[in-house]
Parts: sequence; C-alpha cells; structure tokens
Amino acid sequence: MTPNPFVMHSRRFFVLTFCLGIFFSQTVSAGDASLGRQKAMMACAVCHGPMGLASMPSAPHLAGQVPDYLAEQLKNYRSGKRAHEVMAVIAKQLTDDDIANLAAWYASIKISVEPNP
Ligand code: HEC
Repeated sequence: MTPNPFVMHSRRFFVLTFCLGIFFSQTVSAGDASLGRQKAMMACAVCHGPMGLASMPSAPHLAGQVPDYLAEQLKNYRSGKRAHEVMAVIAKQLTDDDIANLAAWYASIKISVEPNP
C-alpha cells in the first residue's frame, strides 16, 4: 500500500506546529514584557517610538518583531559582531535580563499589516 500523502503532510504539519508552539511559548515567556516596556520608555522610545514604531527615519520599527531576532541583534551590537555607533553604546549597558525583557516587550506589541489594493 502506498502511503497517503495527505495523512503524511498533516502529520508533519502537526509535529511542526507543535514544535513551534513549544519554541515560541518558551522564548516569549523568557522575558518580562512589562519590565521591558519600562526600560524601553526610558532608553529606546526616543528613536524607536513609544510603541516600537520608529520616530526617526534612520531607526527601524521593532513592534511585533520576533523576540529571538531582537535578542540576537542586541547581543550582536553588544559584542561588536554587528557594528553601529549608536546601538553599540546602548547595547553595552544592557544585561541579558534587560535584553530578554526588551525583546518580550517589543514582540508583545500587536501589529497588523494591510497590503496595497
Ligand atoms: C539614538 C537613537 C536610538 C536609541 C536611543 C535606540 N536605538 Fe536601536 N537602533 C537605532 C538605529 C539608528 C538602528 C539601526 C542600526 C543599524 O543600522 O544597524 C537601531 C537598531 C536597533 C535594532 C536592530 C533592529 C533590526 O531590525 O535589526 C534593535 C533590536 C534595536 N535597535 C533595539 C533598541 C533598544 C532595545 C533600545 C533601547 C535599549 C534602542 N534600540 C535604543 C537607534 C536607536
């Protein structure tokens, strides 16, 4: 008997969704979004906006970004792996907890997108 491709795909999809579920629930709960928000209001909002929508043209939006990506970029600025004069200075003052909290805060902001008609 040949395997039913639909059953195989849905099983694979289930396994994938399940793994992503574990992955995201762990990464999101790793930081405290409300502590991150407090920190962000003081240290980041002037450029990245109070809700993570950038308020200066050279700064990127952070709202709704994947937390792992945010955390990795902040660690890269801190270590010098990613070079940027301003962000390097800012990231050097952040602890691992700060980074996890900030990533959780920006990731927790709900965004919606609308394609042009
Ligand atoms: C003085 C303005 C300024 C402040 C304050 C600032 N940033 Fe930035 N940030 C920038 C700019 C400009 C870039 C783009 C840097 C580059 O080109 O790599 C950036 C890039 C980033 C990125 C990379 C985003 C991406 O899409 O790769 C992250 C994450 C980030 N900032 C987080 C923060 C956090 C968290 C804080 C507060 C602790 C903060 N920034 C404070 C100006 C600022």
